[in-house]
Amino acid sequence: MDLHQKITELKKQKNAVILAHYYQVPEIQEVADYVGDSLGLSQKAAETDAEMIVFAGVHFMAETAKILNPDKKVLLPDLMAGCSLADSCPADAFRTLVKAHPDHEVITYVNCSAEVKALSDIICTSSNAEKIVNSVPKDVPIIFAPDKNLGKYIQKKTGRKMLLWDGACIVHEAFSMDKLLKLYKENPGSKIIAHPESESHILETATYVGSTAGMIDYVKKHPAEKFIVATEAGILHKMQQEVPQAVLIPAPAEEDNTCACSECAFMKMNTLQKLYDCLLNENPQIEVTAEIRKKAIVPIERMLELSK
Ligand code: 13P
Ligand code: SF4
Repeated sequence: MDLHQKITELKKQKNAVILAHYYQVPEIQEVADYVGDSLGLSQKAAETDAEMIVFAGVHFMAETAKILNPDKKVLLPDLMAGCSLADSCPADAFRTLVKAHPDHEVITYVNCSAEVKALSDIICTSSNAEKIVNSVPKDVPIIFAPDKNLGKYIQKKTGRKMLLWDGACIVHEAFSMDKLLKLYKENPGSKIIAHPESESHILETATYVGSTAGMIDYVKKHPAEKFIVATEAGILHKMQQEVPQAVLIPAPAEEDNTCACSECAFMKMNTLQKLYDCLLNENPQIEVTAEIRKKAIVPIERMLELSK
C-alpha cells in the first residue's frame, strides 16, 4: 500500500477527517476530505461529526478548529508550521493597543494566535472581511489586525477609517511589481488576480481581488483565459483541476525562492509522510487552555454567524 492508501485506511479506522488548505502540496490536497480557504475550513471544522480532525494547514488554522471542537483531537502534521502574519501580532502588545482604545470594535483576521482571538470582538477572513467590517455600526471606530495590506484594501472598499496593526505576510509582500508588469506585457490578454494580503500597488493591477476560494471561483467563470495568479503557488493545483483549459502563471517574487514563484515555507512544512505519522501516532496535537478558548470562541462564532 502506498502512503495515500494507508492514510485513507487509517482515517476510516479512526473516524478522522482531513481538512487541507489550498497552499498544501498536491499529494496532501489529493488525500484530504475537504480543501478550502480559511473560512471554508473553519465552517467544515465547526460542522464535522468526525472524532478526530487532521489539519493540513498552519498552526492558527488548526487552533481555530480546536477552539471549535474542544472535545476532539485536532492534529497538525508539523507544529512548527506557523504564519508570519500571526507572528507579527504578539498578544501582549495587542492587549496594550486594545486597552488603549476601549471604544473601538476589534476585528481580527483569522491569521493570529488563540490569545489574540481572545482579545477580539469579531474574527474575519479574506473572504468575509468586507462584510464583517460593514456589520459594525458606522459611528463605531475599528481596530483591524494583524494584516495591514488586507486592512488598507478593506478600508478603501468600505470607506471606514480603521486603526491598522502593522503586520504582513512574507509571501504576499514578496511579489515584484517590475517582474509582474514584464510578465503581463509578455502575456497580452492575461488577467491578474490577487490575494488581498498583497501590497496595494499589486492589488491595483488586478482585475479580481479575493480569498483563495474566491480566486478559484473567479477563474471558473472565465475557464479559457490566461491568468497571472498573485498568491501562494499551491493554489495552482486545485485551480488547474477546476479549469484545465486556462493558462495559469504564478506571479513572480522579488527574490525567487525554491520554485521560482511564491511558496509559503510554513505551509510546505507539512508532508504526506508527516500527515501519515501524525494520524498513526495521534500526535502532534493542538491544545488551547479552557480560559483562552472560552474567550476566543466568541468572536469566531460571531464570524460564522455573519457568514451564513
Ligand atoms: P485564504 O483564507 O484566502 O485561504 O487565505 C489564507 C492565507 O493564509 C493566505 O495567505
Ligand atoms: Fe501566513 Fe502568509 Fe503563509 Fe498565509 S501565506 S500562512 S499569511 S505566512
